[in-house]
Amino acid sequence: MEGCTLFQIRHGRESTSSCKLLRRVRYGVQPVTDFAFATCLPGMESALKLDVGRARPDLRFAYSRPGLVTFKSVDAIAVDDAPGSVFARVWGRSIGPARSPEDAVHQLALVGADRLHVYPRDPESVTDLAPWHAALGVGLPGVAAGPATDGELVADVIVSASADEPAWLGLHRQDANHVAAPGALIAVDVPADAPSRAYAKIEEAIAWAGLPVRTGDVALEIGAAPGGAVMALAKRGVEVFGVDTGELAPNVRAMKGVHHLPIKVGALRWEQLPKRVDWLLVDVNLAPQVALHEVGRLMPKLAPTLVGAVFTLKLNDVSFVAELPVLAQRIAGFGFQSVRMRHLPSNRKEVCAVAMMRQRA
Ligand SMILES: C[S@@+](CC[C@H](N)C(=O)[O-])C[C@H]1O[C@@H](n2cnc3c(N)ncnc32)[C@H](O)[C@@H]1O
Repeated sequence: MEGCTLFQIRHGRESTSSCKLLRRVRYGVQPVTDFAFATCLPGMESALKLDVGRARPDLRFAYSRPGLVTFKSVDAIAVDDAPGSVFARVWGRSIGPARSPEDAVHQLALVGADRLHVYPRDPESVTDLAPWHAALGVGLPGVAAGPATDGELVADVIVSASADEPAWLGLHRQDANHVAAPGALIAVDVPADAPSRAYAKIEEAIAWAGLPVRTGDVALEIGAAPGGAVMALAKRGVEVFGVDTGELAPNVRAMKGVHHLPIKVGALRWEQLPKRVDWLLVDVNLAPQVALHEVGRLMPKLAPTLVGAVFTLKLNDVSFVAELPVLAQRIAGFGFQSVRMRHLPSNRKEVCAVAMMRQRA
């Protein structure tokens, strides 16, 4: 069974099934094997594995299903182990498979979780969570569902849409490296008339990174059409300048404070930029290095007033994963104080990078 042993050693509890292994660990007969788990967008497992291979040479790929990957370690995996990849939605200590809700109750009964997160392995599938919620609600009394608060020990129950496949169990400690929502699935209410999923992408970025976006702010978006992100920002009372050769949707164009600059970013001149820009958004269909080259050209004009930037970096090829540290450095080189990357729930073959230029009072 993956990874139950060390946790139980630390907490002084043993289950019959793990006694043999515990004895081997105590008497130093055999090194301990621990496992980390990561959830991800189904289809992004290869990117996740490549990224972990680069960032965490201590881990070896162990097991994969769409939306779930586990890694083997000869060292203990702590429940607050830092995520090994930007593609990990949830990262933690793997417990292993659970064949039924009752099996999950049995395995989680003694782990001492403060919080229970039951979520689908593939959020876009139809997955029946009800039997798992029902059994775990009764079997783990007092362990609440819902968003976790910092410091809480969270039991992850990752449920497959197929009844033939087991659920997967894991544990993580809630901290700044983890999104509070179950499965890290940040809930965004996308209006029916939003013209693109970029509405959800910018709202997820704001929620994940805690961006201090305020009414009256000014944003510049490079690659703005058809206007999902423009709509989200305009609804927040932000004045938005959208650069795109394509058209903004008429309902977005008609919103208060929305401006369209119908040109290629390469043709954008400093004189066309507003006097003050608080937020820069880059969501352009260009290779990241090309998009960043254009940003670099504009940065001397933008930097004096910029609070932060949200880059959607297009990964047309999985080999781009190896470039992520270089891209982060390139962005930091524009003078940003911090750069954080994450594959957000609405991202597809792309990664969100949030860069902060200055703190706000
Ligand atoms: C993913 S879409 C942007 C979606 C948009 N952010 C939204 O919220 O709906 C990428 C956009 O980049 C634009 N684009 C591609 N090359 C461009 C360039 N050189 N200059 C400006 N826009 C460009 C395309 O026209 C396209 O509308």
